[in-house]
Amino acid sequence: MSASLATVSYIAAIILFILSLGGLSNPETSRRGNLYGMIGMAIAVLATVSGPRVTTGGIAWIAIALVAGGAIGLYLARTVKMTQMPELVAFMHSLVGLVAMIVGYASYVDPTATAGMAAAEVTIHHVEVYVGVLIGAVTLSGSVIAFGKLSGRIGGKPLLLPARHWLNLAGLLVVIWFGYRFLGAHSIQEGMTPIIVMSVIALLFGIHMVMAIGGADMPVVVSMLNSYSGWAAAATGFMLSNDLLIVTGALVGSSGAILSYIMCRAMNRNFISVIAGGFGGETSAPSAGGAAQPAGEVVPVNAQEAADLLREAKSVVIVPGYGMAVAQAQHTVYEITKRLRELGKTVRFGIHPVAGRMPGHMNVLLAEAKVPYDIVLEMDEINGDFPDTDVSMVIGANDIVNPSAQEDPSSPIAGMPVLEVWKAHTSIVMKRSMASGYAGVDNPLFYKDNNRMLFGDAKKMLDEVLVALKG
Ligand code: TAP
Repeated sequence: MSASLATVSYIAAIILFILSLGGLSNPETSRRGNLYGMIGMAIAVLATVSGPRVTTGGIAWIAIALVAGGAIGLYLARTVKMTQMPELVAFMHSLVGLVAMIVGYASYVDPTATAGMAAAEVTIHHVEVYVGVLIGAVTLSGSVIAFGKLSGRIGGKPLLLPARHWLNLAGLLVVIWFGYRFLGAHSIQEGMTPIIVMSVIALLFGIHMVMAIGGADMPVVVSMLNSYSGWAAAATGFMLSNDLLIVTGALVGSSGAILSYIMCRAMNRNFISVIAGGFGGETSAPSAGGAAQPAGEVVPVNAQEAADLLREAKSVVIVPGYGMAVAQAQHTVYEITKRLRELGKTVRFGIHPVAGRMPGHMNVLLAEAKVPYDIVLEMDEINGDFPDTDVSMVIGANDIVNPSAQEDPSSPIAGMPVLEVWKAHTSIVMKRSMASGYAGVDNPLFYKDNNRMLFGDAKKMLDEVLVALKG
């Protein structure tokens, strides 16, 4: 393939990536968005492999890498559980970081990378290498720790070292100093020490940064690492003078940054304080103090009583959360929705932006169960309707329906926007026990007079509710 054809293919791929991002912003167009992305990536890979920079001898290696990588990707995509998606994404980000580091080192020691360049160009290339390896190393180690935390291999409690901000600042100064030494090096051997020292510091910084972040802020961290992986790819693009990688990396980098911002807003968290770390370390036990402990009794109901409440209601809002994903109850939820609509009820879904464990988690599950998009509403669209709702049914959700976010300024989740399910005439919360949710805080909703608890696995209880509704 000639260089100009490769450039045209790259431009086509870039346009498809932009269309893909546009499509992914809405559940109704997301399939199309995915398709654009797949076609764009296929064009990008083909144009690169058959492009002018790949020698005939290299093709065999690329074919082996494509088959091996494709097989691993296919295996992971087929076997990963929906609830493990964030871990998988974090793992993928670590690979982007690793690649940026490897390309950086290879590009530094490869004499042909700078052949024929003027001194100023060589300096620019070395800046690209240094910055690329730096971003790559932070992304690599940060993503590995995020993977460990999300998969439960590392505890969710934030590790807060004394004077940690000073440690980070000292690390930054050392990195700048070694950058200066790296650029001043007269030979590759001389430049190796500064870049290796910087790599070690950057790896430690990535570990330290993510270790300091508590469990409840992990979604933001994953999208932030997504952004970093984009910048790492863009840096790799600069090192290899590859326009496609630069643009694609910038697209991923900026969209990840925007997503992080949106998620921070959804959790009412300040982005800087998320990065500074500390919040949400207690992932399983109720909050140890500070937040007022709710008091009172809960009113348990059985599936028949829950079905009776639904049968008497005219309008129902269903709020799904992480527990629905764990129980894989989305298909039964849709069966119940269909049954209630047959009975003439208005049924809608209220989706919190951080319900579940990844952005869009609930939308994906409901789409899989074929719930029509027009009855699935965002939090802001539905929150005003709860006072006119007869029954709000919470399925395996906890933090996202916690009134203490609004009512208790000392709560760790104070200020986080929540779905106001308690404003409905009656709320039913479906979960297995009184255990707290991801943020580890108790939930006063359970003790409200108009709330009923339906204890049990969401799938099992919903099956029983469905039988009762059909009976
Ligand atoms: P959570 O607050 O984690 O609550 C989920 C509830 O589901 C738990 O209290 C659990 O109670 C229940 N549950 C678990 N398995 C169940 C099953 N098989 N059947 C029935 N119930 C089950 O979830 P949420 O309300 O969706 O809120 C999401 C939380 O995760 C937020 O704090 C958010 O910040 C955080 N987070 C979000 C993301 C993204 S991007 N969405 C990523 C990481 C973390 P029992 O144990 O009593 O059953």
